[in-house]
Formats: sequence, C-alpha cells, structure tokens
Amino acid sequence: MHHLTINGKPFSADVDAETPLLWVLRDDARLKGTKFGCGIGLCGACTVHVDGRAVRSCIMPVSAVSGSAVTTIEGLSPDGKHPLQRAWIATQAPQCGYCQSGQIMQAATLLRDYPQPTDANIDAVMSGNLCRCMAYVRIRKAIKLAAGMQEKADA
Ligand code: FES
Ligand code: FES
Repeated sequence: MHHLTINGKPFSADVDAETPLLWVLRDDARLKGTKFGCGIGLCGACTVHVDGRAVRSCIMPVSAVSGSAVTTIEGLSPDGKHPLQRAWIATQAPQCGYCQSGQIMQAATLLRDYPQPTDANIDAVMSGNLCRCMAYVRIRKAIKLAAGMQEKADA
C-alpha cells in the first residue's frame, strides 16, 4: 500500500510499487484531468506537482512519491480561478485541449519561480511541454496575462 496526499486529501493506492503515478491518479483516484501522451517523459501532458515540483507522472513510480503531496489540475485552485486558469479562458489558449492541463501545471511552477517571466524564462521552463496543435503563441500570451493578474493581486 502506498500512502500519499492528493489535492490535500490522504489517498492510499494498493498497486505495484512500479505503477506510474499517472495511473494511480487516473484509474484509482479517478482524476482524469491529467493526460497520457507519450508515456516516456517526453511530452509533458501528464505533468503534476509533487511537493511543489513539476514532474512527469507517466514515468514516476508511485513508490517514489509515497508520503508526498501531489497536486493535479483539479487541485490547482479550490474554485478553478487560479490566474492561469482565468488567463487560459480569456485567451482561449487551447485547441484540442489534450496537452493543456500539463501546460498549466508546468506554467504554475514557472510563475511561482518567475512571477514576471521573460520570454527566455518561458522558453526554459515550458519547452518540454509539447502541443500537437501548435498553440504555443496563445499559451505564451496566457502565461503573460496570468503574470499580470498575479501582479495586480499582489499590489
Ligand atoms: S505522457 Fe508523460 S511526458 Fe508524455
Ligand atoms: S491544444 Fe491540442 S495538443 Fe495542445
């Protein structure tokens, strides 16, 4: 049995130690917002936070996160009004949407570390999150809008 916290609530997973965190989230916790893309850590669709770090849940064995706090897109904000979520809606950033929860979770760590990110910061942190629909321009616009919302909230 593997004990962790998911979106602030204790969760126990009775699965093999090597089971990827992604499947614990999707199949056991029934949180479907985190997506399976490549399964080999290369696309970022499965990005969640583990103790505040953005990780690729498709290659993270559940045994490696025992005792950790996991946050998924469903737990990013209590009411879906995180600045990134509001900016994503305002800019209509998604195309098909498949990569977008991973994009938002990765961007959340970007904004925490760089509240006013430069293009270089965005490139450095977001370049591993791929989008088949090539929505990169709108994603960048949404990140900058969210940074502005955050700045206003902090003022
Ligand atoms: S599904 Fe995990 S990085 Fe692609
Ligand atoms: S919006 Fe379709 S893959 Fe990114």
